[in-house]
Amino acid sequence: MDAINLFLYLFLSVFTFYLVRGMAVAHLRRRKNRLPPGTLGLPFIGETLQLISAYKTENPEPFIDDRVSKYGNIFTTHVFGEPTVFSADPETNRFILQNEGRLFESSYPGSIQNLLGRYSLLLMRGTLHKRMHSLTMSFANSSILKDHLLADIDRLVRLNLDSWTGRVFLMDEAKKITFNLTVKQLMSFDPCEWTENLMKEYMLVIEGFFSIPLPIFSSTYRKAIQARTKVAEALGLVVRDRRKEREGGERKNDMLESLFEGDGAAGVEGGGFSDEEIVDFILALLVAGYETTSTIMTLAVKFLTETPHALSQLKEEHEEIRLRKGEVESLQWEDYKSMPFTQCVVNETLRIANIISGVFRRAMTDINIKGYTIPKGWKVFASFRAVHLDHEHFKDARTFDPWRWQNSAGPTSSPNVFTPFGGGPRRCPGYELARVELSVFLHHLVTRFSWVPAEADKLIFFPTTRMQKRYPINVQHRSLFDQREEENGL
Ligand code: HEM
Repeated sequence: MDAINLFLYLFLSVFTFYLVRGMAVAHLRRRKNRLPPGTLGLPFIGETLQLISAYKTENPEPFIDDRVSKYGNIFTTHVFGEPTVFSADPETNRFILQNEGRLFESSYPGSIQNLLGRYSLLLMRGTLHKRMHSLTMSFANSSILKDHLLADIDRLVRLNLDSWTGRVFLMDEAKKITFNLTVKQLMSFDPCEWTENLMKEYMLVIEGFFSIPLPIFSSTYRKAIQARTKVAEALGLVVRDRRKEREGGERKNDMLESLFEGDGAAGVEGGGFSDEEIVDFILALLVAGYETTSTIMTLAVKFLTETPHALSQLKEEHEEIRLRKGEVESLQWEDYKSMPFTQCVVNETLRIANIISGVFRRAMTDINIKGYTIPKGWKVFASFRAVHLDHEHFKDARTFDPWRWQNSAGPTSSPNVFTPFGGGPRRCPGYELARVELSVFLHHLVTRFSWVPAEADKLIFFPTTRMQKRYPINVQHRSLFDQREEENGL
């Protein structure tokens, strides 16, 4: 871009910023309503740079803490190019989530919208969203998990762990596990060269989510668009092949089959979905399930490594199951249900890691809440992180303490404060699947390996929550059974 264009671009951005802000303020004055307190920061960039620099560190909390102590639990800011009402209040968050589609609608940055495709669940609205949300829920509910997904999860986690030796980048391995699991569940593919190549392209797509959605400015975005085309083509071929197999009477037990049998986006009974609809839908499910679960797996291990007492209690729980079953027998649903401390570890990791730190929504009309008005068209951010890490709701909220979940009255006296999977009509349909994947992974990890961090690493939160160096660890195989024999002097 030459200097004149750059100047014009900046001039128009500043002009638009003041125009939009002036209109919003005038609109509110006319209605004698008031915005939540706060500041819109610098022209155009608002407080984005403060937010990014806080979230690139291990301790992003001051960004929220400072504003909450100055303005209260609901405040106004300006981030990622738009004025935004930020909520650190559980009641307001609940109100926002429950009123999806009535007062608020989900809102994703342009980069994500372009890369996902219009038939992704995350971007669907209205009755189509409702239908597809429940279809997704039905594919990942507990009876499906119990009847066949658990066996696949157990087998694929073992398969991945079989190759571990010496130094392992836990974040990468966890990504491989969750990617292979998701591909299996969606399309019945076992890990092979095809899934490996698909994953490579996929990672390029995901990197594009956090770039400027203009190909001339960002090579990351350009590469992501190209990779998306390749992924869509590969998935399109699978869909076409499966249609042919179905014509020959072959049926598989996976998500793709449910989409062939569904009513289609137009809602015609038994009409089925078009190839484009199926590809967009599957592509988005892969995004939603893979990055989140793999990060939670990695962080659970990090927190456990830093809390040896919790790790040894977890090992005890899993060793007991393994000793009962022998070395090779796969986990059954009853085994999964007999992991109470593991569930405490999972909850606590979800609470303290906040992989999805909150959700953006857009106000569909002027909305009055707690004495303030959110103007129509404004963004709101319901922050789960702010609530999960608030000392008012959780004692010693910023400490990893899985035992808090053992308290029979629950970890807190406040309702609606634990929402790692969101809530309302867009509540994560993969919440139970994620829990099972994580529990099975921890089971095999702690019964088969001991490990130490290979080097110091840092947990950062922007553009996503991740370990800066992909959490390298040195692993050592341990056989529970050899150990027991040694202990018994055999
Ligand atoms: C630890 C792992 C996970 C976490 C923390 C998580 C969290 C979330 C959250 C907070 C939302 C709500 C977004 C919103 O309200 O806008 C969501 C939505 C979603 N999640 Fe998950 N998720 C996880 C795993 C999974 C898995 C394994 C799947 C696979 C099925 C999945 C599929 C989805 C989908 C499709 C949506 C969009 C729902 C909609 O817009 O209707 N998630 N997830």
